[in-house]
Amino acid sequence: MFILFSGTLCQKSALKYQSTHVPEMPPCDFTPEEYKGMSKDQMMQIRQQNCNPMTMKVTSYKRPVFIHQGHMQWLWDVDGKRYLDLFAGVATVSVGHCHPRVTEAAVRQLKKLWHTTNIYVYPPIHEYCEKLASYLPDPLKVIYLTNSGSEANDLAMLMARLYTGNFDIITFRNSYHGGSPQTMGLTSNAAYKYPVPSGLGCTNTMCPDVFRGIWGGSHCRDSPVQTIRECSCPQGCCVANENYIGQLKDTFATSVPSQIAAFFAEPIQGVGGAVQYPKNYLKEAYKLVRERGGVCIADEVQTGFGRTGSHFWGFQGHGVIPDIVTMAKGIGNGFPMGAVVTTPEIAASFAKAVHFNTFGGNPVACTVASAVLDTITTEGIQQNSLEVGTYLLTQLAKLRDTYEIIGDVRGKGLQIGVEMVKDKTSREPLPVHAVGEIFEDIKDMGVLIGKGGLFGQTFRIQPPMCITLEDADFFLAVFNKALFKYMERR
Ligand SMILES: Cc1ncc(COP(=O)(O)O)c(C=O)c1O
Repeated sequence: MFILFSGTLCQKSALKYQSTHVPEMPPCDFTPEEYKGMSKDQMMQIRQQNCNPMTMKVTSYKRPVFIHQGHMQWLWDVDGKRYLDLFAGVATVSVGHCHPRVTEAAVRQLKKLWHTTNIYVYPPIHEYCEKLASYLPDPLKVIYLTNSGSEANDLAMLMARLYTGNFDIITFRNSYHGGSPQTMGLTSNAAYKYPVPSGLGCTNTMCPDVFRGIWGGSHCRDSPVQTIRECSCPQGCCVANENYIGQLKDTFATSVPSQIAAFFAEPIQGVGGAVQYPKNYLKEAYKLVRERGGVCIADEVQTGFGRTGSHFWGFQGHGVIPDIVTMAKGIGNGFPMGAVVTTPEIAASFAKAVHFNTFGGNPVACTVASAVLDTITTEGIQQNSLEVGTYLLTQLAKLRDTYEIIGDVRGKGLQIGVEMVKDKTSREPLPVHAVGEIFEDIKDMGVLIGKGGLFGQTFRIQPPMCITLEDADFFLAVFNKALFKYMERR
C-alpha cells in the first residue's frame, strides 16, 4: 500500500470513485467502419523505413495507438477498440472528430471548387474573413489566412518588424510558437531547437510560472484552482507579479535595444503545460512593450475558439487587446489552416512587397472554418468548455490533494494541465519513465491525454470541446486508478 498525502489538504473522502473502480465507458451510438487496411506490423515497418525518423521520435506510447476512425470525442483503433480522446490531435479538433455539420460543409465545397487562389475573387474567403472578424474586438479586423500556426507566427514576426521598423522580439522561456526556422527562435524549449542559426533577434524572458517558478502563491492566477504555494501578499497586491515584471524589465535593460518589434505570448501556455501567469502580468507587460515601440502578439493557436471557457479568446481573460493575434489548430477542427489577424495599420505594412501563398485561404479550408465558427456558436461549445472544464479542474484538484505526486492542477475551461512531481515539497518533476507508465496505463484503459512541460512532466487535457460531464467522470476514474496503481508499484 502507498501512503496517501497526509495533512490538511487530504480530501480522499471527497473523491467520487474508489481508487480502483472504473465505470463503463460512456456509451456512443456511432458505429465505425470495419478496418480492412494494412497490418499494424506493416505500418510500423513503413514508419521506420520510409517516414522521416522524426515520425518515430514523436510517436506517443511504448505500444502506440493505431487510429482508424473518429466521431466527435471518440476514436477507434484498427482493432475496433474505442478511446475517449482528451487530446484532440494536440488540441486541434475543436468541435469533434468528423463533426457532421463541418463534414457536410466540406463535402459540399469539395463538390463545387477545391482550389483557387487570392489572384481571383471567390466567395468562401470573403464569407469567412467577414465572419471571423466579427468574433474579434476593434481594431483587430484585418485577416491573412495561412496553412499552419508556424506560418501564422512567421508572418506576425514579419508584420511586427515591418510596422515598427524594429527587429527584436521577446517571448517567454518554456514557450512553443512553432518549428519553422524563424519561429524556432521564439520557441524557448531546448528539445525543439536545432543547432543552426535561427531566430535572429529573438530573446527569451523569465516565464512567470506561479507553480514552478521562483515566485507564486495561492491567489495569483485566473483559474478555479490555485497553486498549493502559500501567499502572504496584502490584499490587492501580487508580489509574484511584481517580481516577474521586474524580470521583464531586466530583459529590457540588458538584452534588447531600447526599441523593440514585438512581445509574443500565449494567454495560457500549451506545449509548456498549461502554464498560467499572474493575473495582471500581461496587462503590465503590454504597457511596457508599447512604451518601447513594440507590438503585442497573442498566440491563440491553442487557447482560441472558446477553449478557455470564460471567453472566446484567451487574451480576453487577461483584459488586454493585442495588436496581432495568431491562430491555427482549432480554427479548422483539424483541417490545415491558420490566420494572422491585426489592425489595418499593421496590415498595411505587409503590402510593402508581395507575399504570395498558394493555399492560404483555400475555399475548402474557409468553408470548413466557417462551419466550425457556426458550430461553436450554435452548439454552445464555449459554454460547454466552461462547464465541463471547471468540473474537471475542481475534481482534479481533489486528486491533487490525495496524491503526493500531483503538484499542480491548473488552467481554464478545456485547457488543463496536471503537473506531476516527485513530491509536493521539492516540486521536482516526476521522472520521465514514471510519467510514461501512468500515461500508458491511462491509454490502455481507453483514454488519450497529452504531455507537455520542459521535462515532459505535465499531463495535458485539451479535448474536443464537445465532451460531457459523464466523459469527465470516466476520465477521472481512469486517472485515479492509474495513479493508485503507480503508487502501489512505487
Ligand atoms: C501555441 C502554438 N503556436 C504555434 C504552433 C505551431 O503550429 P503548427 O504546428 O500548426 O505550425 C503551435 C503548435 O503546437 C502551438 O502550440
